[in-house]
Amino acid sequence: SEPLRLGIAGLGTVGAGVVKIIQRNKALLEARTGREIVISAVSARSRDKDRGVNLSRFDWEDDPVALAKRDDVDVFVELMGGSDGPAKAATEAAINAGKDVVTANKAMLAIHGQALAEAAEANCRVIRFEAAVAGGIPIVKALTEGLAANQVTRIMGVMNGTCNYILTRMENAKLPYEEVFEEANALGYLEADPTLDVGGIDAGHKLALLAAIAFGTKVNFDAMELEGIERVSIEDIEAAADMGYRIKLLGVAQMTGRGLESRMSPCLVPAESPLGQLENATNMVVVEGDSVGQVVLRGAGAGEGPTASAVMGDVLDIARGIRVSTFGQPAQSLVTAKPAKANSA
Ligand code: NDP
Ligand code: HSE
Repeated sequence: SEPLRLGIAGLGTVGAGVVKIIQRNKALLEARTGREIVISAVSARSRDKDRGVNLSRFDWEDDPVALAKRDDVDVFVELMGGSDGPAKAATEAAINAGKDVVTANKAMLAIHGQALAEAAEANCRVIRFEAAVAGGIPIVKALTEGLAANQVTRIMGVMNGTCNYILTRMENAKLPYEEVFEEANALGYLEADPTLDVGGIDAGHKLALLAAIAFGTKVNFDAMELEGIERVSIEDIEAAADMGYRIKLLGVAQMTGRGLESRMSPCLVPAESPLGQLENATNMVVVEGDSVGQVVLRGAGAGEGPTASAVMGDVLDIARGIRVSTFGQPAQSLVTAKPAKANSA
């Protein structure tokens, strides 16, 4: 059958990781989908940067919107980041030009995801975003496919690798905040604006997306109660450890009589619990469903390989003709309410 032709905008940590998987696992990808996965063209800000991958066989577009509209692109892969600006403009252009979209951009989706998903549906296209939530953990696919028969009662977890890295490295290695922050940066975990990470906003974006999928509501980031790790000190971490607890940036979303309640905040969790034992950039998502009970997914929440793995999972679904929608499910309750009290550490 016909090859699936990609246009990739953004060749940073995640974009370079995607190119590497396509080049390294070429035969495997074709065997698993029955189609060749090819890159038609790429885009980034600088043509000259060494990205550790060979880009010489791909066309180059300076303008991601032009890339998104190319005739030789079937799927626009948006890996630039930013809630607005070129990421949103190019994603809209791709949908309007009849392309499917794969993105890792939770900041864009938490704010514009509903409108983008509706635009995609109106154009008979899909917008897929597994990589936007919990890095390499296939939680979107789990909710929309394997757990789709369940009434979800609660979804919670640790969803920001940077914060978990900082909190655990400060505790285990007795290193100052500034040093572990730089380590996280070198490992490619940070958002372009790291205040999104440490302010809890990035994790909040992810929880907003998961809650919308799990409970069939509209994405409503503004209704979330939000607190980051900026006020957590080494003294707080040590005091928690003395009592047998660890501090985690924990997100919880649940349906109550008052509607969907969601919060993201630093919480005390028992050190010996599965959540307490999460180290470094590992994420964990816990789903509670009326039939399945509790399901726990754990894995790398950030970084080149894990995130590119999730991007490619979406690309392969499109190659196979799997077109499951995410926010398009019937609304169960559009009422949202702030939780009464956050369990802050
Ligand atoms: P990087 O900052 O490493 O890469 C961003 C890329 O986008 C760069 O190649 C940059 O070009 C390019 N870019 C930025 N602006 C433009 C523009 N106007 N036109 C063309 N290209 C542009 O980011 P990441 O790879 O870390 O993240 C990409 C996306 O993935 C973000 O949405 C992020 O939230 C998300 N994500 C990241 C994860 C991670 O672990 N890093 C995990 C999950 C999601 P240049 O290189 O020339 O500067
Ligand atoms: N900055 C994000 C994190 C990347 O640290 O979790 C993964 O979404």
